[in-house]
Amino acid sequence: MFRTIEWLDDTSQVRLVDQTKLPLALEHIITGSHERIAESIKIMEIRGAPAIGAAAGMGIALAAIESKAKTRADLIEYLENAAITLNTRPTAVNLTWATSRMLEVARTTSGNVADIIGKLIEEAKEIAEEDVRMCRSMGENALEFIKPGFTIQTICNAGSLATVHLGTVGAVVRVAHEKYDGNIKVYSAETRPRQQGARLTVFEFMEDDIDTTLITDGMIGTVFREGRVDCCVVGADRILRTGHVINKIGTYTMAIAAKYHKIPFYSVAPTSTIDMTTNPEDVVIEERDPNEIRMINGEYVTVPDAKVYNPAFDMTPPELIDAIITDRGIVKNPTEEKMLKLFSK
Ligand code: MRU
Repeated sequence: MFRTIEWLDDTSQVRLVDQTKLPLALEHIITGSHERIAESIKIMEIRGAPAIGAAAGMGIALAAIESKAKTRADLIEYLENAAITLNTRPTAVNLTWATSRMLEVARTTSGNVADIIGKLIEEAKEIAEEDVRMCRSMGENALEFIKPGFTIQTICNAGSLATVHLGTVGAVVRVAHEKYDGNIKVYSAETRPRQQGARLTVFEFMEDDIDTTLITDGMIGTVFREGRVDCCVVGADRILRTGHVINKIGTYTMAIAAKYHKIPFYSVAPTSTIDMTTNPEDVVIEERDPNEIRMINGEYVTVPDAKVYNPAFDMTPPELIDAIITDRGIVKNPTEEKMLKLFSK
């Protein structure tokens, strides 16, 4: 698979895949504006926790170039405002993680404005490269659980398109596919209302010749009862020190059904998705436009003013999770103590 987002050295711009157009068209957005990046994140032209983290990192580098600041103080003030502009989605911690990391680089780099800008561009590119490396490590670590011939249930898109390259769940599937000579299958839940499973996961796995079956979200229990899947592997937008996993709406329901059917349930995420400070009750779950539910492809599928509740994410408690798979290692039957052991630094 191609890279979802890239820094273009020649023009100091960012190029990203427009995910709202997939799978019907593969189009790119090329921009030198941090405000355009913020807009892309908000309207989900780029989405998926690690991908929006990488986009926000590059957004800060673009802001530094755009700023025309003459002094360090002016530059840092401009970047602090850019960070606020870029933080357009509240749930995935990767966004604040990336903007905080970039601001820290700006504050701690010695030299003049040009030196800081140079360092910020390097750091944004490094965030993206790190993401690719972390994905591969997660895929390799997951082999402890994924055996030849397994069928994996997924939700949403945690593939290449949700990261810079490879994906989190995408890496688990791709590394196993590579290792087991293609002997791995996927069931992808459609994932209403934005259909990232149908539009993105099916598209990218089929591009890589991975045997993928699309189901609607309501079919998950039946697929489990019929013994069609061996395990569930889901991504995460935020994992707390308590072991709670915040991920795409429907993940929690899937985890409950998996527990009932004794199907192992794994969440896979990079270090940049781990949030060791926020308490479960303080996590902000993004609520999106009601029309995402009322409409499909621009057409109403219900009464136009139907009352709607549209949380984009849910929270799965640790007792429903068999393991959290990260680039740093695996936390089986997660508890706060075990999370602290792996992530205290
Ligand atoms: O609303 P989205 O499409 O940004 O939600 C994405 C997810 O929930 C993914 O599962 C999560 O970000 C993990 S991506 C590797």
